[in-house]
Amino acid sequence: MSRIRLLPEHLVNKIAAGEVVERPSSVVKELVENAIDAGSTAITVELKDAGRQLIRVSDDGLGMDAGDIDLALLRHATSKIADEADLAAIASLGFRGEALPAICAVSRFQITSCPRGATTGALVRGAGGEVVDRLAIEAQPGTTVETQDLFFNTPARLKFLRSAPAELAAALRLLEGLALARPDLHLRVIHNGRVTLMAPAARSLRDRVGALRGFELAQAMLEVDRTQGSVRVEGLAVPPQLARGNRDEMTLIVNGRAVRDTALLQTLIEAYRPMLARHEFPSAVLIISMPLQELDVNVHPTKAWVRFRSPRLVQEAVFLAVQDALRSRRVVQPQQGLTSPDMDLDQALTSSSESTSFPQAGLSSSISTWPTSACSSSTCAATCSRDRCPRRPSSSRNRSISGQGRARSSSNGRPTWAAWASRSKSSEGGACSCAACRRCSRARSRDV
Ligand SMILES: Nc1ncnc2c1ncn2[C@@H]1O[C@H](COP(=O)(O)OP(=O)(O)OP(=O)(O)O)[C@@H](O)[C@H]1O
Ligand SMILES: [Mg+2]
Repeated sequence: MSRIRLLPEHLVNKIAAGEVVERPSSVVKELVENAIDAGSTAITVELKDAGRQLIRVSDDGLGMDAGDIDLALLRHATSKIADEADLAAIASLGFRGEALPAICAVSRFQITSCPRGATTGALVRGAGGEVVDRLAIEAQPGTTVETQDLFFNTPARLKFLRSAPAELAAALRLLEGLALARPDLHLRVIHNGRVTLMAPAARSLRDRVGALRGFELAQAMLEVDRTQGSVRVEGLAVPPQLARGNRDEMTLIVNGRAVRDTALLQTLIEAYRPMLARHEFPSAVLIISMPLQELDVNVHPTKAWVRFRSPRLVQEAVFLAVQDALRSRRVVQPQQGLTSPDMDLDQALTSSSESTSFPQAGLSSSISTWPTSACSSSTCAATCSRDRCPRRPSSSRNRSISGQGRARSSSNGRPTWAAWASRSKSSEGGACSCAACRRCSRARSRDV
């Protein structure tokens, strides 16, 4: 008898669920993405115990009839692609036909759905991937998917779940990305009976950012808009003085999908150098659009990672778009005669590099997040060879940019995309990491 056997369907689903359903937030993401793909305008997410006890996602989308619900519960059943050509140009958030069966394989589930225009809907109930009840019911058009006791039949996975606040934070982070990708959606999140996130349909990205991150911040954000080749980068980015202490507010939306891309996030940070210290990060929402064929979304089961056909082109577009935005006048506010009201970033950087101490007094009060004094250690300036190190005194930064770096810099002394790109190739991009500077920054943070 052969040692090799075909695994039964329920076991295959459990294995697949391991990839797609990592934690409650994965379920929330997949169900909300389904609702968005179904053309919903209003989506409500209800959670209990951060989704471990209950996740219920209700929408007013296309809906499904009884036959479609049965099909949706089978692996590799989807309405979103039909052939290989579709795979090369995916416009929907889902396409793998895996999420629903994977979620239902590791929970007690109930799906209620009614197609638009119909008065009778269907209810399907089950557990661990097995359907136990099918009923015809009266229902409003739309779909509600409910999962209870997530991972009840995979105790090993249950053990890996983090605390309720950590799981809730993960879910809210994903929902924030979806809400930013679709400002026109009305999104409501209720946790343990209390409204945790309310994002009414917004007229603009700025309004949506205001609802999620605060209107004061949204109002101060700079408009980003630049087209570079086939890539368009739009969105909002904070001026440097409103930088954050962590990376949580850097959001990338690529062709309508919130994605993680380490290189692009690094590019975004680099576009702010040298205006941010090492521990500071921008708050930004970048909406990146490109032809569907330039993007491969079929690289990871959760679809959070994508692959670009020309990653350098996309990085260049992001870098230049953010630098364009940072050149705007709102970046540097006028300060009691120390800087002219018309001074923009170019001038600010030029005068900062002309100054003998770093940073220039007027700018330090206006850009509050810049280091307030140069590093006092002589070894720092002497040993650091990187001209954008924020700890370096301006005299040596200036020398490096206008002297040895001239070929790679623009006429006003600012590092150009080409300069940065060649640096990052030799893994020199980013803030300074020389040992002396690290010592100095530790000393500085202790002092503060
Ligand atoms: N909320 C919903 N409203 C209408 N139809 C839905 C809804 N959720 C799922 N469906 C239907 O069920 C099908 C299967 O959903 P499922 O999430 O398993 O796969 P998918 O979205 O096609 O791909 P992926 O696995 O990448 O998410 C979908 O293609 C869609 O036709
Ligand atoms: Mg899906």
